[in-house]
Amino acid sequence: MATKNRVQVAIIGSGPAGLLLGQLLHLAGIDTIILERRSKDYVLGRVRAGLLEQGTVDLLDRAGVGKRLHAQGLVHEGLDVCFGGVRHRVDLHALSGRKVTIYGQTEVTRDLMDAREAAGAKTVYEAEDVSVHDVGGARPKVRYRKDGAGHEIECDFIAGCDGFHGVCRGSVPASSIACYERVYPFGWIGVLSDTPPVSHELIYVHHERGFALCTMRSHTRSRLYLQCPIEDEVEDWPDERFWDELRRRLDPATAAALVSGPSIEKSITPLRSFVAEPVRFGRLFLAGDAAHIVPPTGAKGLNLAASDVHYLSGALTEHYASGKTAELDAYSARALQRVWKAERFSWWMTHLLHRFPENGAFGTKIQLAELDYLFSSRAAQISLAENYVGLPY
Ligand code: APR
Ligand code: PHB
Repeated sequence: MATKNRVQVAIIGSGPAGLLLGQLLHLAGIDTIILERRSKDYVLGRVRAGLLEQGTVDLLDRAGVGKRLHAQGLVHEGLDVCFGGVRHRVDLHALSGRKVTIYGQTEVTRDLMDAREAAGAKTVYEAEDVSVHDVGGARPKVRYRKDGAGHEIECDFIAGCDGFHGVCRGSVPASSIACYERVYPFGWIGVLSDTPPVSHELIYVHHERGFALCTMRSHTRSRLYLQCPIEDEVEDWPDERFWDELRRRLDPATAAALVSGPSIEKSITPLRSFVAEPVRFGRLFLAGDAAHIVPPTGAKGLNLAASDVHYLSGALTEHYASGKTAELDAYSARALQRVWKAERFSWWMTHLLHRFPENGAFGTKIQLAELDYLFSSRAAQISLAENYVGLPY
């Protein structure tokens, strides 16, 4: 016999999307439960991108979790693009009036978990067999198992914040959802190492051997990425090979300045663009990676999760305050309008900087012409900058 409970909003997934939504709803006096399939330590052990748009920082401030982010985050006013063996700077701040902040997604997650715990809001970790029911009716339900016992939660709304492989999107009948997808024919191998960043800002590298990116987590911790064949395994990339390959893709001065050291984490990420439409089904609302995926070029994943949550938390807050449904009804279209622009930008940056073997020498020439144009045109740089720092909500 399952235990039964009631809550206003049931949130599936305790990634940044679910946790940020939970926090904003808590501040609005709305009662939530978060059901997470993994353990807390597992969620905190995942290494992901670490670049926050100014809008995301503002939202985290509004959620009351900005303190450590402001103390430890690194504010960047520009970035470098290296091509033809020469580094070129894009002055994001001069071009767009905005800045970005380097602060690991793991840290964002930890701050949100701490705030949730301090607020006394409930999270069930290691919730098994989570399933959603009756989303088309007035009383949707979520069922799960924990430590062998069955549980059922009745709620007003369900937020599907359960990532790309979650259960929520998959529970929608295929005839009610359209999925748009592009899978890229390569991956990124990422290394985390306790070595000083080679530059104080990010370096995006176009090279005939493939894309590279030098980013960081702090003044003493670097995060580095290389484009690699999709079929590669982490074992194919011993540390020495990784550092050697990175040096080959950098300009000589940067390669000479690069400090290498043992990796403390190494993983391969496939690159994918994906959007599900719509992102609302009756009383089920998708947000974050559950609804869309971007390739990591441009670091839009976490920032898009934040903008979805901005719209969704606002819509739920309005509904509970006034009984109106206008913002809930508008959620899907509003979120998707911003999502598609970030999809376009991530797709564009991916195409500009990666080696696409099938495009041959012609493709490379076109990329170099576009890069050359970018650094001879303030208009083109403004376009890059305003997308990179984040389009307005
Ligand atoms: N039941 C419960 N929880 C689930 C289920 C399930 N069936 N399936 C997945 N989850 C959990 C995952 O374990 C994960 O903790 O949902 C969470 C989804 O979190 P993320 O994958 O971090 O997605 P999201 O919160 O949308 O964050 C988007 O963070 O994950 C990165 O690359 C992503 O940067 C992007 C941003
Ligand atoms: C990161 O810091 O991990 C990062 C930064 C920028 C990107 C991708 C990843 O475009």
